[in-house]
Amino acid sequence: MSAPLRLSSEPVGDLVEREARHAETISYLFRDFHIALPKGTMILRDESLARRTTLRVGGPADLYVEPGTEDALASVMELCSLRSMPVFLLGRGSNLLVRDGGFRGVVVSLAAAGFSRIEGEGVFLRVGAGARLKQVAVEARRLGLAGLEFLEGIPGSMGGALRMNAGAMGRWTFDAVEQIRVMDHYGAIRDVARSAIDVEYRNCPLLRQEVAVSALLKGDPAPPDEVRERMDTYSRKRWESQPNQPSAGCTFKNPSPNLPAGRLIDELGLKGTRVGDAMVSDVHANFLVNLGRATARDVLTLIQLVRDRVRDARGIQLETEVEILGEDSP
Ligand code: EPU
Repeated sequence: MSAPLRLSSEPVGDLVEREARHAETISYLFRDFHIALPKGTMILRDESLARRTTLRVGGPADLYVEPGTEDALASVMELCSLRSMPVFLLGRGSNLLVRDGGFRGVVVSLAAAGFSRIEGEGVFLRVGAGARLKQVAVEARRLGLAGLEFLEGIPGSMGGALRMNAGAMGRWTFDAVEQIRVMDHYGAIRDVARSAIDVEYRNCPLLRQEVAVSALLKGDPAPPDEVRERMDTYSRKRWESQPNQPSAGCTFKNPSPNLPAGRLIDELGLKGTRVGDAMVSDVHANFLVNLGRATARDVLTLIQLVRDRVRDARGIQLETEVEILGEDSP
């Protein structure tokens, strides 16, 4: 959704003019948001995205906003559309690599309480897009619902999990979905049944166009102790097999279920390979970790190095699984 501002062949005068126009539009939108959104809505300029991602790299967003209600979100979407401003929906930032130049546009987060509710309705859970997945798993356990245990260890939000069709322990987010509620770029809302949604491994194309505001999930009644046991097993497995340093989770998609990217990279002896403070984890080779002061450039260079090595050695083109957002530093 990001539109890079700098085109290398562009005359400098045009570039300066375009950047000035962009800065002016951002100022107008900042004012529009203050007028249209309820008092107390978080609206920030030049907000660092490094501190809002688990990998902890990358530059700022021109504008960052946390609407608290569907009406407020609709206003944000409509105002951005009217001013042709790119919008990016940020979840918990756990699968996101923001480039060092940041994002020229509006980053919208649904972390406010109004979007983070989890409500049980029999075997169903109505979950706001901003809810933490861990909380969803815990609430399902409390209600004696099985099938959502795999969400326990995914450090993301419901909205992000839907968009990515996030998965773990052999399950996908959409395995548990009955219906989702989505908003388009003009603020119109509709409910869509699971049967009408195409999903793929780590992708839900509908949510590249529209924004998920909530989901109706379905669990299977089960004794809470049984659910707890499964969650504990998953948690143990994750602690044993995944690093706990800052990362964006798995960097690459698995080329196929029988060919995990982590094993491929490991077999090439790339664990511990470093570019600056970005390193191929020595715990799980599909995780690139930030040892402290990594830049997005370091991580991107390491991604390219790994891809080149895997292509040269095995003839396989690894595709990134992390979302890459924004533009390089000037
Ligand atoms: N393996 C190695 N070396 C490594 C890493 C893994 O040999 O450095 C081997 C493992 O021993 C195992 C196989 O590769 O035999 C698969 O590893 P693992 O069970 O860790 O699963 P994965 O396919 O690497 C997937 C998801 C993870 C999810 C885990 C657990 C993808 C890209 N990754 O990892 O999701 O947590 O299963 O269910 O599909 C994410 O999406 O960000 C993510 C971390």
